[in-house]
Amino acid sequence: MPEAKGLFVTATSTEVGKTYVTALIVKKLREAGYNAGYYKAALSGLEKTKAGLQASDAGYVKQVAGLDEDLSNLVTYIYENPVSPHLAAQMEGNPVELPLVKAAYAKAAAKYDYLTMEGSGGIMCPLRYDSSARIFLEDVIKELNLGTVLVAHAGLGTINAVVLTVEYMRYRDIAVKGVILNHFCGSLMELDNKKMIEELTGIPVLALVQENAVEINLEAGRLAALYA
Ligand SMILES: Nc1ncnc2c1ncn2[C@@H]1O[C@H](COP(=O)(O)OP(=O)(O)OP(=O)(O)O)[C@@H](O)[C@H]1O
Ligand SMILES: [Mg+2]
Repeated sequence: MPEAKGLFVTATSTEVGKTYVTALIVKKLREAGYNAGYYKAALSGLEKTKAGLQASDAGYVKQVAGLDEDLSNLVTYIYENPVSPHLAAQMEGNPVELPLVKAAYAKAAAKYDYLTMEGSGGIMCPLRYDSSARIFLEDVIKELNLGTVLVAHAGLGTINAVVLTVEYMRYRDIAVKGVILNHFCGSLMELDNKKMIEELTGIPVLALVQENAVEINLEAGRLAALYA
């Protein structure tokens, strides 16, 4: 069976638009004929019901990108408390096990050619932190040998947030292939943010995603080339 090429989507923080942008990426690839899929290791703040799952990141991407997939294959750990997975697991049990995440990713990788994995929160989000294990997102990224794209807000404060994240990821030897700026309105400041991010990090800003965008302004072939 073919092994998918993978890409990890992280962000400068939680709620910045990883799911929104990922859905547009997977949709674009699929519309261009690429066999593209989605996977997320851990979701928090969710009722463990069918409706809860449908309203989740996985449910959103499935619907927008038109994935014909059982939601249980798209996400492995679900926590009810709306906190980081490490804390949710301390409260609810069922802490993240790396082999389970690897197995679920491998199952998806066997089915798709281009697999996008969404992170939880920003890059420094602890997935598990207890007396038995400490697992961070970067452990998953390294274990699965993934390159990343970084989603950030287009507006005020983003130069600082992007540069700090990129420098940390460099320090940890994680490849950042590009930045995607979300909630882009077209202001002078936002255009300067794009320029400054590229100058200060040397990493290209791949796309500017507007409010309620239904398409990502990045050619499918260029998107596909980000996967490795
Ligand atoms: N470009 C956009 N236009 C309109 N709404 C957006 C856009 N980007 C994000 N949103 C909305 O902002 C909220 C947060 O976005 P999203 O869920 O994608 O963030 P996230 O980074 O995936 O968060 P988490 O860390 O919880 O996974 C959602 O309600 C989403 O629909
Ligand atoms: Mg999300």
